[in-house]
Amino acid sequence: MTHDVVIVGAGLAGLNAAIQLAGKVDVAIVTKVYPSRSHSGAAQGGVAAAVANLESDDTPELHMYDTIKGSDYLGDQDAIEIMVNEAPETVIEMERLGCVFSRDEEGRIAQRAFGGHSRKRSCYAADRTGHSLLHALFEQSMKHDANLTVYSEYFLLSLIYKEGVARGVVMMNILTGDIEVIRAKAVLFATGGYGRAFEITSNAFANTGDGIVAAYRQGIPLQDMECVQFHPTGLYGVGILVSEAARGEGGYLLNGKGERFMEKYAPSKMELAPRDIVSRSEQTEINEGRGINGENYVHIDLRHLGRETILERLPQIRQLGIDFLGIDCIEEPLPIQPTAHYSMGGIPVNHDCQVVVDQSGTPARGFFSAGECACVSVHGANRLGTNSLLEALVFGKRAGKAILKYVQSAEFEDVNENEEIANARKSLDDLLSSASTESANEIRTSLKETMMWKCGVFRDKEKLEQALETVLELSARYKNIRIADKGKVFNTELQEALELGNLLEFSEVIVRGALAREESRGAHFRTDFPKRDDEQWMKHTLAYKGPDGSLQFKYKPVIITRYQPEERKY
Ligand code: FUM
Repeated sequence: MTHDVVIVGAGLAGLNAAIQLAGKVDVAIVTKVYPSRSHSGAAQGGVAAAVANLESDDTPELHMYDTIKGSDYLGDQDAIEIMVNEAPETVIEMERLGCVFSRDEEGRIAQRAFGGHSRKRSCYAADRTGHSLLHALFEQSMKHDANLTVYSEYFLLSLIYKEGVARGVVMMNILTGDIEVIRAKAVLFATGGYGRAFEITSNAFANTGDGIVAAYRQGIPLQDMECVQFHPTGLYGVGILVSEAARGEGGYLLNGKGERFMEKYAPSKMELAPRDIVSRSEQTEINEGRGINGENYVHIDLRHLGRETILERLPQIRQLGIDFLGIDCIEEPLPIQPTAHYSMGGIPVNHDCQVVVDQSGTPARGFFSAGECACVSVHGANRLGTNSLLEALVFGKRAGKAILKYVQSAEFEDVNENEEIANARKSLDDLLSSASTESANEIRTSLKETMMWKCGVFRDKEKLEQALETVLELSARYKNIRIADKGKVFNTELQEALELGNLLEFSEVIVRGALAREESRGAHFRTDFPKRDDEQWMKHTLAYKGPDGSLQFKYKPVIITRYQPEERKY
């Protein structure tokens, strides 16, 4: 198959790129799940933009400063400036495309408070903002179905990338098990995050880092992978998101002694400090025995907000509490714990979302990336809530525009389709025919526990070294896994095994990056190096996979334009 552009991923970034392109060039979207089931739909509390409906003194400049400070000075300030300046027009555009935002009393888009933002700038659709945006964009994309082919339920196997040029993708049709190739002049990866490597996560089952690993295997570096965000309010035991909007609306956190413990850790912002700080505070309470009944959770209390507010503004989290824990937050506090939520790192890109392969920003021809799998570095070491929907929209659109320009003069490069298919078939057949006995489930469970408790909210050398040893041992065992289902049709066991291979591969990058970064910055907190070290470490990590499979690090400077690093106080 041949298309001018192939986009892998149908969340906000992929769809917003697609609607810039469809109708002008021939576009394909490859997606593991039906587009409207993409993980962008799980984002709850809002999209940040200084539209200043609620607080008239808000400006993109304030938004920029908050984001830089929130990032703990690892965010690139030029990229952040682009994002915040384009935020207001992006939100208005989404409203016009059909996103059903909640309204204030004067009929304007409603806004609420969110952690680390100095103004109430989260534009929201109750607590289903991602869902509302995703459906609006999917509907828009469907207008173009003559020029937009959606390969739904196709699993990405590899990126075809030779001599510095992306040429297409190899994928498996999940329904039939057939392997197919799409040749393209440009490839966009918008494959989302990779939280499924952690035991407790808010991420969808699909978030297994397929895109980032496909890029990494082709020698493309991965940037700042050690920076993994834990959201402070995951439903206890299951990790499902309880939106920060719950705290934005006035909900508060209580420990086992009934204390609002954030008073100790962030006296001015309290529960609305950035997520890294709130997650560490919670985990400290738990570790020091002040969880509820000494257990591994604390409470978020919303009862004082009242039934009406909860039903109007937080209906989804109420329902999730009822469905998953049997607790109605109108009547009782919800048990919560930190949950792996967002990946600040990813495939390094420039402002046009073109993938860059080295410290000097050399672009990979025809290869673009946007959204959570990319690292344009607007979040640095800690993302502020509501900046991810914004990033996906702003940079998805920029990617679409840049790709349109690029494909006008690009040619289809040579691809040996038969060879690509034969190679992919052989690796799948080897996996299917293996007579070994290792269990993928056991390996996955062990990986997730290890990543959660040895490379999670708190890290140190000893735990990280243990984590590395385990990841390497599990990777060796992975070579001998047994797949019981030998069939081709909807072989979810095979798909999950392939995903496990991806989880293992990028987990090694996360752990080694965390070991190397001997400081604490944002979500990366080393108890053995508890201070931020701007002298040594105000730089981005680039992890490369060498031809022999070994991992090598290089570093590149953070771009500082307007705000010099200062101590973060909240
Ligand atoms: O808490 C939330 O609603 C999540 C938002 C985000 O991650 O941006």
